[in-house]
Amino acid sequence: MKLSQAQADIMRLKQEKDICILAHSYQAREIIEVADFSGDSYQLSVFAAKAPQKTVIMCGVRFMAETVKLLSPDKTVILANPEAGCPMAEQIDKEYVSRLKRENDYTIVAYINTTAALKTVCDVCVTSSSAVDIVDKIDNKNILFLPDRNLGAYVAAKLPHKSIKLLDGGCPVHEAVSGIEAKKAKAAHPNSELLVHPECISEVAELADFIGSTSAIMDYVIGSDKTEFIIGTEISIIENLQYLCPDKRFYSLSHKLICADMKLTTLPDVLNCVKSDVGEYGEEITLDKETMTAARACIEKMIELGT
Ligand code: 13P
Ligand code: SF4
Repeated sequence: MKLSQAQADIMRLKQEKDICILAHSYQAREIIEVADFSGDSYQLSVFAAKAPQKTVIMCGVRFMAETVKLLSPDKTVILANPEAGCPMAEQIDKEYVSRLKRENDYTIVAYINTTAALKTVCDVCVTSSSAVDIVDKIDNKNILFLPDRNLGAYVAAKLPHKSIKLLDGGCPVHEAVSGIEAKKAKAAHPNSELLVHPECISEVAELADFIGSTSAIMDYVIGSDKTEFIIGTEISIIENLQYLCPDKRFYSLSHKLICADMKLTTLPDVLNCVKSDVGEYGEEITLDKETMTAARACIEKMIELGT
């Protein structure tokens, strides 16, 4: 792999300054190439906690940087582009959830795509790869799942013995894809398998050959004997898969599968972060003591139940 000048500078500076760079799998290939680790949101949170470096630069969206801070309170955590948020993480009102908690016997399950502030009133986090497993292990039949109604419906279908109440949230990127589009894509590429993220609506998920997190989709492709795949998640996965599996063919399920927030972070952002002193570029994530304690408990419960 030949590095560009900017990439070589990043590699040198992160070594000199003992910085760990994390990149979600939706990031551009040139960013993934300079990262110490890339993966889905669960893998990032676990890797971050174990990383020896005292400074972490997160190339992804805000809730991911907050999760790193929650698990590594003594580290300096920088969000490479402070504008990068996840619209779904902001959809649910914390006071509303607190009221539901007071009035019902729910265990409140928060998809990790939530703000640290919202996590303070939830009992346990899940990620798309761990949701079914963790909800199954919860010692309560009554679950309030938030914010993603599609991931929640997927979990509910897998666990009919649980009573799962869903709230009205979802990923605007994945939800935009219709069942008609999925049927058309399958007809256009009849030799392909359709692989989708559980944030897609049920009409799409029902047509899929495989449903999984970003990493689960990547692992499925790498381990498969098949050669053609329609990818039903953010388009960057295709770029990364094409690099890893040059002999396989990939098609995007829809041109709508572009997360503008994930695209905000650029290689120059990463270079500027590693060149600068803390606070000069990107945003250092700070969380108050109360948020640190309550939101961290929610993530620790996920790790406890997920292992
Ligand atoms: P993963 O948990 O699969 O990494 O997904 C995060 C995300 O934002 C999906 O849209
Ligand atoms: Fe959030 Fe959807 Fe973007 Fe993932 S793809 S970061 S859930 S908006």
